[in-house]
Amino acid sequence: MANKKSKPRFTARNSDRHDLYQRSVQAPEFEVQFFDRTFKKLRKRKAFSMREDFCGTALLSTTWVESHKERTATGVDIDPEVLQWGIDNNMAHLDEPGNRLTLEQRDVRQVSRRKYDLVNAMNFSYWIFSTRPEMLRYLKSVRKSLVKDGIFFLDMFGGWEAQEIMQEKRRIEGGFTYVWDQNSFDPRTNEVVNYIHFHFRDGSKMEKAFTYVWRHWSMVEIRELLEEAGFSKIHIYWDVADGSFRERKHMQNQPGWLAYIAALV
Ligand SMILES: C[S@@+](CC[C@H](N)C(=O)[O-])C[C@H]1O[C@@H](n2cnc3c(N)ncnc32)[C@H](O)[C@@H]1O
Repeated sequence: MANKKSKPRFTARNSDRHDLYQRSVQAPEFEVQFFDRTFKKLRKRKAFSMREDFCGTALLSTTWVESHKERTATGVDIDPEVLQWGIDNNMAHLDEPGNRLTLEQRDVRQVSRRKYDLVNAMNFSYWIFSTRPEMLRYLKSVRKSLVKDGIFFLDMFGGWEAQEIMQEKRRIEGGFTYVWDQNSFDPRTNEVVNYIHFHFRDGSKMEKAFTYVWRHWSMVEIRELLEEAGFSKIHIYWDVADGSFRERKHMQNQPGWLAYIAALV
């Protein structure tokens, strides 16, 4: 019989911030399915090789190599600590698929010689580039890393609430609360400082588990820069109903919106 007084599963003391992050913000199965479907629709073939920029714990790359026996993935991140966490926790259980997954500890802006069907930059990580020249340099380097019918996938959020100073709380399965803290917004530069905190049922807290200093880019700026970087066509998929992304030629602004961009070589 279940003990009603059993201890909460997650507390600040016994939890790992990367594990909490994955449970709160990542949906790798959904993203693999979205890339697969969208690539097939736009390129009339299946995508096999993927590079995950800013891969963090490489959960998406792990899911990609597990999704098909011929798929390969390269995860790129600058931080050795987060890559090691991914090796120990996400890749440890992989048998054969693990041979098709490579991690590279480096700056995503270094041009690699290898070319991929698909490159992605998820969870707005590319917003660390705060000037047009820096962003353009990154986008050009991605284009050079794609095969001739390759696609670059990236995500964006916007709407007037995205520039509001506020905290949004979400209960996560397993018994903790994810807190998205939009802490500051500088209208001179569009620099935002956001934090992720985790709060637990026993009252304990993990404050500032993650800190993001980003430029909040607009859709039109990113579209123009993608074109300047040489991408030939840009498709935008809006989150029209919770988790359902559709291509729309026209959109009305909303308090908060989420979108994927597919940029074609
Ligand atoms: C918000 S996390 C993204 C994790 C994952 N992509 C996701 O979807 O949740 C951002 C990651 O980018 C990495 N990073 C920041 N600057 C980088 C750079 N210039 N080159 C490579 N990785 C970088 C950080 O180490 C961090 O792991």
